[in-house]
Amino acid sequence: MKSPFTQNNSLFKTKKPFNDTFVPPDICGREQELQKYINALQDIVDGFAPPNILVYGETGLGKTATTKHVLNLLRDELSETNRTLTVLEVNCNKHDSTYSTLRHLADRLNEKSYTQGHSRSELWDVVYDGLDALGDTILLVLDGLEHLDPDTDLLYELSRASTELENAHLGIIGIATDSRYPDQLSLRIRQNLNATNIHFNLYDASDLIAILDYHCNLAFKDGVVNDDVVPLAAALTAQATGDARTGLTLLETAGDLAQTKGADTVTRSHVEHARTEAESRTVENIFFTDLTTQHRLLFLSVMRLNLLTDDAAAFDDVENQYEQYCTRADTDPLSARRLRDLLKVILEKGFIDRDEYNAGPGGGRWNTYSVMVSPSTILDAIERRDAHLEQVIAADKRKLKRTAKRNEQDQRFV
Ligand SMILES: Nc1ncnc2c1ncn2[C@@H]1O[C@H](COP(=O)(O)OP(=O)(O)OP(=O)(O)O)[C@@H](O)[C@H]1O
Ligand SMILES: [Mg+2]
Repeated sequence: MKSPFTQNNSLFKTKKPFNDTFVPPDICGREQELQKYINALQDIVDGFAPPNILVYGETGLGKTATTKHVLNLLRDELSETNRTLTVLEVNCNKHDSTYSTLRHLADRLNEKSYTQGHSRSELWDVVYDGLDALGDTILLVLDGLEHLDPDTDLLYELSRASTELENAHLGIIGIATDSRYPDQLSLRIRQNLNATNIHFNLYDASDLIAILDYHCNLAFKDGVVNDDVVPLAAALTAQATGDARTGLTLLETAGDLAQTKGADTVTRSHVEHARTEAESRTVENIFFTDLTTQHRLLFLSVMRLNLLTDDAAAFDDVENQYEQYCTRADTDPLSARRLRDLLKVILEKGFIDRDEYNAGPGGGRWNTYSVMVSPSTILDAIERRDAHLEQVIAADKRKLKRTAKRNEQDQRFV
């Protein structure tokens, strides 16, 4: 049998730059944030107590990458002196409570395992003794701080560590994926931490061009990416989310598509195709993870009416259709009032839109609903992932699919 794999990877040099744990050797842009970071850490180089720093902003904006880069610069600077710098990193995504973080730190500092049975005060003693044994300057990086309760004892205790430590100086670098993080901290924690706050803004298209271009040169072989690929990926990402991770995923997917098709170069159309795929994946994930069965039945009711009547659907018709789907799904229908709440949720997710009509005095007011995501994506996903739901729409599934395909070719969803 002919192998389904291909041996000739002609496009990628390496895929590491697309990996979430990749630390780019250089940071593109972010001059102000880097300068603020360096200014705060200068105290360590000058032999003063380390600062506390809070780095915050939305996802994929280079907070972790910039922190690792700055800490490498600091290590290099101190390697020329007789000073010792220890950096302890904790992933609060995994250790999302004070107790779990404390236990993790106690384990790390003592190279043994502390079981659930230890009290907090015992663990604090172990941690402080461990930090003192290390001595000199210690930076504790808490990445994913938003997973900890903002009023956590951990930050409060750590901000007062200088009163407990004899031989060591501790600085805390907290990184939070939340652009309003510092406002959520209580006054007593903010006052005790007295942190330098560094906010990371969304990237614009020109920032993203620099970042994507940099990763492109590391990841792809010379000359295989057309000149208009990075600007297009950057423009699409700036419009959508403004974060580097989304742009990098788009670029990697475009490369994968080009490779699968046996193309010699990555082109604009691979990026466009990759974007459509990424959107479909997002829509599919929201449909199956964020929405309940009742939401799904309601959405499918709006969708069926839209497709079969080629028009927006009035609430009464949606309710009727939904009740029929409930019968087929063998589930009890909800009241009209609950349905309106459910429709609001689907609306907030961007899955449907509502138009309000007002026929003036005596004419009444009513709403109509239209789907805003690709019905083909939903229908294909149901076919692949949910046999029960597929059964519910089975009666006219083929007709729905055909109409959806035809409408989408004409660039309209309904
Ligand atoms: N300014 C930049 N220069 C170079 N690469 C960058 C830059 N910003 C982001 N990146 C790239 O994007 C990837 C994601 O960035 P990073 O992990 O630092 O984001 P983050 O802000 O920590 O996101 P999260 O809040 O989700 O943890 C990095 O691995 C890096 O490759
Ligand atoms: Mg991060």
